[in-house]
Amino acid sequence: MKIGLVGSIHELGWEVLRSQGHSIIEVADVSASNLKKELADVSGIILRTAQMPNEVIDACSDLQIIARHGVGYDNVDLNYLNKKNIALGVTGTANAVSVAEHVMTFFLQLTKNIHLSDELTRNGKFQEKANLPSFFELYQKNVLILGFGRIGQEVARRCLGFDMNVYVYDPYVDLKIIQNFGCHSITTEDGFKTADFISIHLPLNQETKNFINSNSIKKMKDSCVIVNTARGGVINEEDLYNALKNKQIRAAGLDVFEQEPPPANHPLFSLKNILLTPHNAALSLECRKRMAIESAETVSFFLKDRDKLNIQNIINRKELGI
Ligand SMILES: NC(=O)c1ccc[n+]([C@@H]2O[C@H](COP(=O)([O-])OP(=O)(O)OC[C@H]3O[C@@H](n4cnc5c(N)ncnc54)[C@H](O)[C@@H]3O)[C@@H](O)[C@H]2O)c1
Repeated sequence: MKIGLVGSIHELGWEVLRSQGHSIIEVADVSASNLKKELADVSGIILRTAQMPNEVIDACSDLQIIARHGVGYDNVDLNYLNKKNIALGVTGTANAVSVAEHVMTFFLQLTKNIHLSDELTRNGKFQEKANLPSFFELYQKNVLILGFGRIGQEVARRCLGFDMNVYVYDPYVDLKIIQNFGCHSITTEDGFKTADFISIHLPLNQETKNFINSNSIKKMKDSCVIVNTARGGVINEEDLYNALKNKQIRAAGLDVFEQEPPPANHPLFSLKNILLTPHNAALSLECRKRMAIESAETVSFFLKDRDKLNIQNIINRKELGI
């Protein structure tokens, strides 16, 4: 069968597809007009971060599955796929560790300011260390995790390892699961007030858009550090900019943006109390390998070897009746 790769994936994913006898086409030009042309006869698509417009889906006469190389799927219209009886896959077991480590890196870097110490040491100012701004411990600080799914849980494990007090807001997860982790369930109202650190792990949808905005920021401590590795749009960037500029909170770390790539003159780029990464929290080498293999297996097993398919990776399994 013919599989379209929209964006490149690790060679190990190609090997999976080849070993199952599929032919592969990799599409680099992700404009809708080109996708319509190049993907017209594919049975499956592995999709990285490009938008997948409905007009492209209409142009694919034999499309049976789109598998995201990742877990977020806001670049494809799930309702439309349901209508057309096309499966949507994700790499549910691949990403969480890498993203959780990225969160801890943000927490540590935003509180320890290692880059300033490095600069001072290199510049022969070793004795001037007392002039560096204060830095802080994670130990016994309160962290609020918004969304306790695959990634939120991995972040919780790591925060507990640092002896932090872990609070969780996720009304869709059973209280016992949260407690069994050694975490505490909390409302947003109390969570925003108590948190020294906030880490966002929510999907982006109508309910979560602008989840962090000027109203929620008003409730936070002025020492609060916010990290978003979920999706741009869950934080209102204009409100975040104003809060950081006016020192309403201490610092922020963003891996994801309302518009990607963000515009060159983005106001957040002018601030010193924010760290930014280019949506690469899940792009460690190990994670890229896992995502390539898992997305290739999901597509291949869905098309020709259903017994081997990890059904949990098919988001619309109920709608498709499988
Ligand atoms: N930066 C990256 O490279 C990267 C990589 C992977 C995933 N992500 C993003 O990370 C986020 C989390 O991914 P995941 O794999 O943990 O997802 P998941 O589906 O496993 O977990 C999401 C959790 O959010 C909860 N939730 C949903 N709506 C909520 C609401 N309104 N209030 C509170 N909780 C709510 C759900 O109950 C679920 O437990 C997604 O937005 C995903 O797109 C980013």
